[in-house]
Amino acid sequence: MSRGADGTLAVPVPNDRVRATYDRTAGLYARTVARLEAASQRWALDRLDLPGATVLEVGCGPGRTLATVAQRVGPDGRAVGVDAAPAMVRAARERLAERGPEASTAVALGDARRLPLATGAADVVCAMDVLDLFDRADLAAVLEECRRVLGSDGRLCVVTMDRAAVPDSWFLRAYELAYERVPGFARVGCRPIPAVEAVRAAGFDVLSTAERERAGVWPVTVLTAGPAG
Ligand SMILES: C[S@@+](CC[C@H](N)C(=O)[O-])C[C@H]1O[C@@H](n2cnc3c(N)ncnc32)[C@H](O)[C@@H]1O
Repeated sequence: MSRGADGTLAVPVPNDRVRATYDRTAGLYARTVARLEAASQRWALDRLDLPGATVLEVGCGPGRTLATVAQRVGPDGRAVGVDAAPAMVRAARERLAERGPEASTAVALGDARRLPLATGAADVVCAMDVLDLFDRADLAAVLEECRRVLGSDGRLCVVTMDRAAVPDSWFLRAYELAYERVPGFARVGCRPIPAVEAVRAAGFDVLSTAERERAGVWPVTVLTAGPAG
């Protein structure tokens, strides 16, 4: 499996196949991984000023965090999810419908590399455990789209595995070994990325970073950023 100059593993399957994996496993994902991720994603939302905001979640998956966003933006806000897997979009819509109309909500089937939103339409863009499934060129395209749809005072909020935050760690070695060797693992795409560098390269100033640990073994970085300038 190839690596970039900075050591980041390439994603050896096209995004269409990664998306197909999530489409097939949406129900299982909602009951397992999404639950495990929820606490650190809520902790990330605590870093944001959400009441009344228009919030986009890219790659919203089964909508667990999008439902929390809908509660927190309140009746004057708007919570919009975009995901490329039809089964994830259905699951997110069901979850939002179950919880009632705390806020105006919408979930669209769409590609994070070509977001179906107007320029400057969002006050906040969240990318929760999703940037780390894109290969380098796609990662740049997704972050540029996040930058495009954010207003000039907007905020980007990212939760991701960050390679630079865990250099020389047993976690990085074990995770990357498994990603390379375990059959089928690479079809989920997720592996640690150079998060801060990628966000800066897309025209953001990084405002904060913090490390969280899931289940005592899984480190993630929570990052907030705003348009540079
Ligand atoms: C690891 S899951 C994270 C889901 C959710 N953010 C969460 O944490 O529960 C990644 C999500 O990205 C979606 N995805 C994959 N490729 C995508 C693309 N090109 N555009 C939008 N979503 C995509 C998948 O369908 C999946 O729902």
